[in-house]
Amino acid sequence: MRELLNRGLSVTVLDDLSTGTKAAVDLRARFVEGDVRSESDVRNALAGVDCVFHLAARVSVRDSFRHFVEDIDINLMGTCNLLRCLPPDTIQRFVFASTMAVYADADGPDPVSEEHPVHPLSPYGIGKLSAESICTQVLKQKAIPFIALRYFNTYGPGQQFTPYVGVITIFVTKLLNGEKPEVFGDGGQRRDFVHVEDIVAGTIAALSGPTGVYNLGTGQSTSVLELAELLIERINPAIGISFAPVQVGELRNAIADISAAKTYLGYDPQRSLRQDVESVIEYIKRLPRN
Ligand SMILES: NC(=O)c1ccc[n+]([C@@H]2O[C@H](COP(=O)([O-])OP(=O)(O)OC[C@H]3O[C@@H](n4cnc5c(N)ncnc54)[C@H](O)[C@@H]3O)[C@@H](O)[C@H]2O)c1
Repeated sequence: MRELLNRGLSVTVLDDLSTGTKAAVDLRARFVEGDVRSESDVRNALAGVDCVFHLAARVSVRDSFRHFVEDIDINLMGTCNLLRCLPPDTIQRFVFASTMAVYADADGPDPVSEEHPVHPLSPYGIGKLSAESICTQVLKQKAIPFIALRYFNTYGPGQQFTPYVGVITIFVTKLLNGEKPEVFGDGGQRRDFVHVEDIVAGTIAALSGPTGVYNLGTGQSTSVLELAELLIERINPAIGISFAPVQVGELRNAIADISAAKTYLGYDPQRSLRQDVESVIEYIKRLPRN
């Protein structure tokens, strides 16, 4: 939103504030508080719009097992509602925030390309993959160019703390509170941690690239155990790690092959975990503590 506004574009934000906050909405944007499943809210938000970035979603893999009806309702049916509300002839492009959770698990830590088989392990992944499919179908029919971006593990300052989403925010918050980070299984699951500013740059690049599906990550792999050790070293070297059982629905390996986004969108991630995790630590340090 902010980056689009900085480029002089007009932005409307639709959000029901279920996890988002009004304070996070730039005052230069037009804000519609509403539900992506509501026809009137979405039609109101779409007035005068020529490009859509669809990010509204429930975003927890683990929580999606408990709340799969609500998750599918928001992530899939909300997408269907948005598609049916698109005004004819004015939308130039539709960009959808999809996820690495659509992929089948990989045998090893090699990066997976967009050709890797899809086989979501969670209701969250199923909802996102189905949403990608219905977008492809309906937008082709409406002749609206469509890009799906499969975001990998995104981190950065400003991420809301929840017990389920954003392992970096969760670990940093725990460590700053003097608690041990909790690692699931042996911590050998490997992730591609990508800074939110790189995700923003890739998402904006999708305004003009060729249509299709693209991974947005870094191509770099870090295990959850390595992450815990890195954060312990930075925040509280005296503290240990606690281990908990493996969670259902989580991929063992999720590293992005970003060749397609590099070639066709000019995507070029600049941030590195070791350097840029500091911005998250500083951000969380400044938040009021209990
Ligand atoms: N953070 C990640 O690592 C990651 C990885 C892959 C994909 N994604 C996708 O990126 C997008 C943004 O994720 P995020 O991490 O910023 O999460 P987020 O929770 O901060 O953003 C989702 C937003 O959707 C809003 N929302 C939820 N239900 C809604 C509804 N019914 N109607 C209108 N708004 C609603 C929430 O209030 C919130 O502001 C999501 O689509 C998510 O699936 C995120």
